[in-house]
Amino acid sequence: MDTQGQTKKVYLQTFGCQMNEYDSGKILEQLHALSYHRTEDPRQADLILINTCAIREKSEHKVYSLLGSLGRIKLENPGVKIGVGGCVAQQKGEEILKRVKLVDLVFGTDNIFELPDMLARSDNGERVLRTEWHPGNKKIDNFIPVFPGTRGQETPITASIAITKGCNNFCSFCVVPYTRGREVSREPDNIIEEASRLVGWGAKEIMLLGQNVNSYRAGQTRFVDLLQRLNGLEGLERIRYTSPHPKDFNEQLAQAHRDLPKLCEHLHLPFQSGSDRILKAMRRNHRIAEYLEKMEMVRETVPGIALSTDIIVGFPGESDEDFHGTLQVMDAVRFDHIYAFKFSPRSDTPAADFPDQVPERIKADRLARIHELHERTLKEIHRGLVGSRQEVLLEGAHPRESGALIGRTRGHKSTTIPGCSRKPGEIVNVEIVATRKFSLVGREVGRGS
Ligand code: 5AD
Ligand code: SF4
Repeated sequence: MDTQGQTKKVYLQTFGCQMNEYDSGKILEQLHALSYHRTEDPRQADLILINTCAIREKSEHKVYSLLGSLGRIKLENPGVKIGVGGCVAQQKGEEILKRVKLVDLVFGTDNIFELPDMLARSDNGERVLRTEWHPGNKKIDNFIPVFPGTRGQETPITASIAITKGCNNFCSFCVVPYTRGREVSREPDNIIEEASRLVGWGAKEIMLLGQNVNSYRAGQTRFVDLLQRLNGLEGLERIRYTSPHPKDFNEQLAQAHRDLPKLCEHLHLPFQSGSDRILKAMRRNHRIAEYLEKMEMVRETVPGIALSTDIIVGFPGESDEDFHGTLQVMDAVRFDHIYAFKFSPRSDTPAADFPDQVPERIKADRLARIHELHERTLKEIHRGLVGSRQEVLLEGAHPRESGALIGRTRGHKSTTIPGCSRKPGEIVNVEIVATRKFSLVGREVGRGS
């Protein structure tokens, strides 16, 4: 099948965060140059790749169970190659090769660019493992895609750009410093070039990605400078970013949300725990009073800004009182959206070995209480939005409601617009007429600005 000149098929499944989705684009870009086309059917594939996530135990388990089922395909078709990339591959490369005999290649987060060489070696019968870091390699860090099809959608209305990689924070629960290495910021010109290409391919919204995105710094260019430059990009309508760290969130960035028309009125700022004692054990480098002050400051600067966060429940040693602190922060801030997780011990991280691990039953109960409180709050927030005017960037047809389009408000609320005759990529003004559990329903009242 891989006779020269013939196209080959790759099946690629991605787990984890937007950074991993972004890396999958880089993987497809490498493979496109080798005449691979994407298939959604692993049975049709010459090459099967899994881009893995290690953030919680569950995500890691998924990798091994998927490898089990994909392995059966290889038993039927021994010619197919199976590769594992991403965060689990970075951390557990050798173990994967040992444990799963059907795997042909394993590559870490900094090794995507070695895929052509790895595939050639694999053709020669080698089982390949590449997980070494390439610090300071500008060619890798400043990569720009040239092929629009690698973005997962033909016309990516909302597209992502990684502006930093890695993390230097070493929060005690987090695997990222071990799977993504030390923090590196890309050259600003290079980011703007990538953004221009994406806009040329139809992108209206750009999400800047980084494990600690607001600590971006390249020479004299700080994060807000980069936002300012992107704001000047013609054809781009919206800018978002994720995830910032509270220690680096400042007044200047809040003012950017107020002053830069393209920067959306939405801030995702993880607080993880409402207890100073737990924050200290998490090595988060900030206190909860500072977090609350920053949230107050941003609300004063940008009235109506939507706020979202990440929360971990059941961190080692978390008492009922500590957990109560988390509920109190939720009550004080009233988030529009939350991502809440049960603490999951990860190898290499200090917190995995902390004493006083919280029993699963208590974690599950605390998580349920978090969701309960959030849903109650959200109902009230949504009720308050009925009758309001919102700008919605249309992203596509509703998957289940015929004639309806879906899009997002500037506050990142998913909004359904029944009977909408506009096209994806357009911005429409809507009046919110109803609410659902996690989304809004709008009626078109005209074209947006
Ligand atoms: N256990 C549970 N949640 C975690 N997160 C990161 N590491 C862990 C872990 N070991 C959560 C944090 C982070 C989000 C991306 O994932 O809330 O902000
Ligand atoms: Fe998962 Fe973190 Fe890796 Fe993203 S960076 S894929 S969240 S472990």
